[in-house]
Amino acid sequence: MSGKNEATVDKTSHWSRFDDWRPLESDDILVCRSEWAGERVALPHPAQLLSPEEQVRAKRYRFEADRNRHVVLWAGLRLIIGSVVNASPRALEFERSAAGKPVLSSPPLSLSFNATHAGAFVVFALSWGGPVGVDIEEVRPEVEIEEIVERFFHPHERREFRTLSEDLKPAAFFRSWTLKESYLKACGVGLPFGLDRVHVTTHPRKHPRLIRVEGMKGEQDRWSLTDLPMPDGCFGAVTSQGRGRKIQFLDLDLARLVSTTEQPKDC
Ligand SMILES: CC(C)(COP(=O)(O)OP(=O)(O)OC[C@H]1O[C@@H](n2cnc3c(N)ncnc32)[C@H](O)[C@@H]1OP(=O)(O)O)[C@@H](O)C(=O)NCCC(=O)NCCS
Repeated sequence: MSGKNEATVDKTSHWSRFDDWRPLESDDILVCRSEWAGERVALPHPAQLLSPEEQVRAKRYRFEADRNRHVVLWAGLRLIIGSVVNASPRALEFERSAAGKPVLSSPPLSLSFNATHAGAFVVFALSWGGPVGVDIEEVRPEVEIEEIVERFFHPHERREFRTLSEDLKPAAFFRSWTLKESYLKACGVGLPFGLDRVHVTTHPRKHPRLIRVEGMKGEQDRWSLTDLPMPDGCFGAVTSQGRGRKIQFLDLDLARLVSTTEQPKDC
């Protein structure tokens, strides 16, 4: 299987430096991407930003790198969300839905967020204008893509997939997976809803679209799917409500941010 990323998204532009961050306007979506290198994290400083529940979650990870990633992601989310909603990072409270989607519960504001990680990256998205879902996937040659498509994808996607040339299949698979999963994460239902109920663009060079959701009329008119510009070997997508919303893409060094930010005095 080729590891080459075939999608049409521009992989070098779009991402601004974190220093160029402008305030998140009412309709904007902010997508932050950080390259992950767990060994650089100066723990336990960032861990002190986490709630007891988030610290317990971190301890459940068997591998130190995963534990560090969880700590840095959640410390980073607290810092960024705190600055967007103008609240102390430690004072933020989150709840999880029955399917596990974390939502901001205090302060009681309509800011939505979602996070994902894969390979060398963690990515999260924030939105004032309704739910948001984000997913990234690394192209992994060992994944049995044809088998997964036949078992779990929508019947139309299966047919479209079979017509693609072999060299397009890896990009088609990982790209459409991120489109589907970002939609399922935006809705908060996750994979148990059924990847086969969601029909998205399969051809990796075609504009990303939600085409149909089985059993849910009009879903395709409610949501926008956008490719994230990721480096070769990685795909990503963000799903948001409505059309034509502005997306700010920011590159940041999350490990550095959480390790160097001064602890808030009120905690
Ligand atoms: C959400 C889900 C698609 C994520 O899969 P993944 O590719 O392994 O992981 P990603 O890195 O993309 O995303 C993980 C993050 O998504 C968020 N998340 C978890 N559940 C979510 C949901 N239902 N919807 C949206 N986001 C969710 C979390 O922030 C999680 O990171 P965290 O645990 O560190 O906080 C998958 O775990 C799933 O389908 N979960 C639902 C399971 C369920 O319904 N359980 C019922 C109760 S037992």
